This record gives sequence, C-alpha cells and structure tokens, in this order.
Amino acid sequence: MYDTNRKWYKDIAVYQIWIRSFCDGNGDGIGDLQGVLSKLDYIKSLGVDAIWFSPIYKSPQEDFGYDISDYRDIQPEYGTLDDFRKVVDGAHERGIKIIMDLVVNHTSTEHYWFQQSRKGGDDNPYKDYYIWRPGKNGGKRPPNNWQSTFGGDGWEWDDVRKEYYLHLFAIHQADLNMDNPAVREEVKGILRFWLDFGVDGFREDVITFISKANLKNGFPLPIATGIEHYARGPHLHEYLQEFYDDVLSKYDCMTVGEGPGLNAKNCLDLIGEKPGHVLDMIFHFEHMSADGLFTSWIPRPFDLKKLKGVFTKWQKSLYGRGWNSLYIENHDQPRVVSRYGDDKVYRVESAKALATMYLCQCGTPYIYQGQEIGMTNIPFDSIDEYIDVQTHNIAAIMRKLHFPEKKIVAAANAASRDNARTPVQWTAGKNAGFTDADKPWFTVNPNYTTVNVEAAEKDPNSVLNYYRALLALRKGSELMRYGAYEEYYHENSSLYCYGRMYEGKRALVVISFAKEPMAFRAPEGYELSEGRLALCSYNGRANAAGNAFTLRPYESRVYIWD
Ligand code: NOJ
Repeated sequence: MYDTNRKWYKDIAVYQIWIRSFCDGNGDGIGDLQGVLSKLDYIKSLGVDAIWFSPIYKSPQEDFGYDISDYRDIQPEYGTLDDFRKVVDGAHERGIKIIMDLVVNHTSTEHYWFQQSRKGGDDNPYKDYYIWRPGKNGGKRPPNNWQSTFGGDGWEWDDVRKEYYLHLFAIHQADLNMDNPAVREEVKGILRFWLDFGVDGFREDVITFISKANLKNGFPLPIATGIEHYARGPHLHEYLQEFYDDVLSKYDCMTVGEGPGLNAKNCLDLIGEKPGHVLDMIFHFEHMSADGLFTSWIPRPFDLKKLKGVFTKWQKSLYGRGWNSLYIENHDQPRVVSRYGDDKVYRVESAKALATMYLCQCGTPYIYQGQEIGMTNIPFDSIDEYIDVQTHNIAAIMRKLHFPEKKIVAAANAASRDNARTPVQWTAGKNAGFTDADKPWFTVNPNYTTVNVEAAEKDPNSVLNYYRALLALRKGSELMRYGAYEEYYHENSSLYCYGRMYEGKRALVVISFAKEPMAFRAPEGYELSEGRLALCSYNGRANAAGNAFTLRPYESRVYIWD
C-alpha cells in the first residue's frame, strides 16, 4: 500500500505549453501569452490541474527560449510581465497551477552576466560565472575534447576574453559555473522572484548537468563527448539541497528535474521519499528510445517489449520510494503516435492506446500541447525546412560521416524535435486557426484539415474526448493514482497488460498494439464478470465471453473492481 507523503503534485495532471507554437493572440504569426489566455478554458476542460511553460523569458531564441538573456522578464514576442500576471491569475482562478522552466545549467551569451564575465579582470565580480579556460597549444586548441550534446565542439573561443568558454548545448548557450557560490545565490534569487510572483513550481532543465566533476578528456563519442564527467556530477545533490533548504522548502511548490542519464535506482538519491529529497520528480529518458538505439536518430523498429520493460522497472522501483513523472511527448520528442503508434491507418486508435498506456500508471502525468488531439510528425522534404539548431547540428555530423542526404532527411523526419514544434491545430481554417497572420512562424502540418481541436470537440470518439475521459478516471480514483503496479504477459510483443492494486481495489489495463484483432484472456485472479468496464477506447459494445474477448486493432480497456 502507498503510505508515504500525500502531496498535491501527486494528484495533478500537467499540460505543457511550448508557447511559440501554441496560439497567436496578436496576429504576428508567433504564439504568445494573449493566445494562452484565450485558451485557458480549453486547458481547464481537459481535466488538467497545472501548466508547465517551456521558457517564456527574454531570449535571443537560438534554442527557442532555453538560451535566456533575462530571467526576470518575458520575451517581447510573447508579451509582458503584465500579460503573464493575467495568465497566472486566470489560471489560478480556474484551479490551474503554473510551473516555470528553470534553465540554470547555462545562459545565453547575451545575458548581462556573460557580457560582464567575458571582460575578465581580477576585480570583476562576474569573472568566474562561467567555465572559462585558456586554449591548449598556445591557445589554438580547445581545453579538452568535449563535444556539445547538440553536436560539434563543446568549447567556443571568445575574442574579448581571449579564452574558451564551455557550452554543452548550442554555441551561444554558455555553461554557468555552479561551483561559484555567487552563481548559486543568483539561482536562488531567480527562484524567489518567480515564487513571489505566484508560480507553483519549476521544471528544472538538464539539472543533472550542473556540477562538472573535472575537465578531463572524455570517451570519444559522435556527440556529447565528456558526458561521463558532468552527468550526475559530485556536487549535484549538495547544490540542489542548497536550493531546497534556502528557498524551495519555504514555499508550497513542486519541482521536476530533467535528468538525462538517471536510472530507476540512482534517481532515488534525488527524489526518494525520505528526508533529504531535493526534487519531487524527475524526467528520465529510458522509455523514449523504444524505436532507436539510444535515440530515434539511430532508428530501430518499435519494440513494445523494450518499452514495457522500462515502464515496469520504473513503476516497481519507485513505488513507495519516489514519485514517477509520466510523459510520452514533449518539445524535444517527435510525436508519439508517429513513433510508437500508427499515424496512417490507426491514428485515432493508436493515439488512444498510447494515452491509456501511460495515463493509467502511478505518477504525475504530463501532456504536451497537441498530443491530446493526436498530432503527428511533419514530413519535410529537405533539411532546409527545419529550424531547430539540434537538427541542423546532427545533420551536419551525418554529412561529415558521409550519410546520403536522403538518409539524413529520413532520420530528421523520424527524430527531429521540430516534429513537435509545428503550430497547434485548432481548426480546419486558415493556418489551422493558430494565427490570423498571413504566415505563421513555422510550417503548419498539412493534416490540420482533419486533425484539429474543433473537429475533435464535435466527435465523441475523438482522441481529445478520450484524453478527457482518462484524466477524469484518474481524478476520481485513488486506485488509479496510488495503486501498485503489476505487469502481465510480458513476452507478448503486441499486448500491454497491467494491473493496479490499492486498498483491496483492483484495475486491469489491457492495450493492444496490433493492427489485427487479437484474442485476449484476463490473467488469473481477474474475473471480468465481477468487475466493471470503466473505459473502452472503441465506441459501442465491448463484449467479453467469460474471461476472454477479442481486442480490436489498438483497442484499450480498463476494468475496475471496487
Ligand atoms: C533540455 C530542453 O528540454 C531542450 O529543449 C534544450 O534544448 C536543452 N535542455 C538545453 O537547454
């Protein structure tokens, strides 16, 4: 039985907004806060309880907001602090909490701190805010062999300071020197500023990279060489503890840390349900490569058994010990229905299967804008049509490795983050109802004429209405939120079946990943006739003969015994 801390963040579902593509309120072709304000009732109608905003701060937008030049102001394209005040108040009035993105592994090189830091000088208080090193070989070569996680060198020469600075991401995203106590004070100041503004928590960007163990050469890899020296560095826990003790613990807020490289055991140091836990949840990545070798840039056929294995491991390992965050999409991941589902023949059915798969697990669910209508990847013909810096860097590496252009485009079609960054499809009208401008900032997926919110609202069997039903089911059921998890039929490579148990109540979740009908028999101990069918992804009758039935393509069912 789940008997540890009850906290509000365990009872909520979160909707993620990547504002640039969410909704344009002022007709300039770019999503903004006015647009968000106009959609608060829609967001509420989904049954979510919080919004996580990917960065909306001032930024030159090299990495669309993850390169911040002012932590205390809003990007003018998106609006003003007053507009954000209205959004926060409007959300709170509707019982929706606000989670900000906290990006403190790095800043934009346009940030005041960097502009000061590059001047050097012994009495310059910003001198050691970043990770500066002289070059090797009389200054001509970078200090070590580290590569950016976006591809390319991890160091950039600065002609003003006459030194290299470290950037684990894009060239103008300079890594902060978190070992400097003054930098940590700055981070605490930012946390206080937004908590005092009224936000309810933070999603902490690549937070597991903030402590670099050393600057020794790394094991050579095509990208991210050096990662073994900074993923889960030696002072990570200590710095997060400091943020928690000095600021976060004094507010009623939640945190979710992005944790590349964390696994279901070592994450418990950070999120464990014990004194000293420094984050409430983490985002891990293990379930995001069931269609690739480490990444979907190296494609492999979708492997349901691998995916189930990861989910089961996390559900089991964290139960009663930590708290899971549940997600299958975000602004860094291609659309899940195009990856793990079937975006051609069974788009609706497979989007519902994927929703059932993760929304019936234990943890706090996150839903990325457009996921709730089953938006799909976008089939660009050329790399020039992509905007994302990571996509271009990876394409450049593939060219160096002599991949034919066709292969590079195919890889980007499957794996680029831009798949998730096309404008949200609101209607079948001009620009999918995203903007009144002649041209939106980024290409609208051509399938908007059929895949859009307006059409989904009218269809009781839409993906959208199924999301609502699933979220309502979670909200009304402690069993669904807190139940223990048990997987069945693991060896079956096109069926996902698991049970949930809580205080004598039970649920059985059955999901077909097959394109053909599939015979199913309930596992021993589950008498279907004694339970009730709480949800079925197909309209109409869902027959069962005794304990057996035939699952239709991508059908999912949830039975409950309560
Ligand atoms: C992770 C964010 O989710 C991603 O979008 C960003 O590019 C990197 N961190 C760098 O901030």
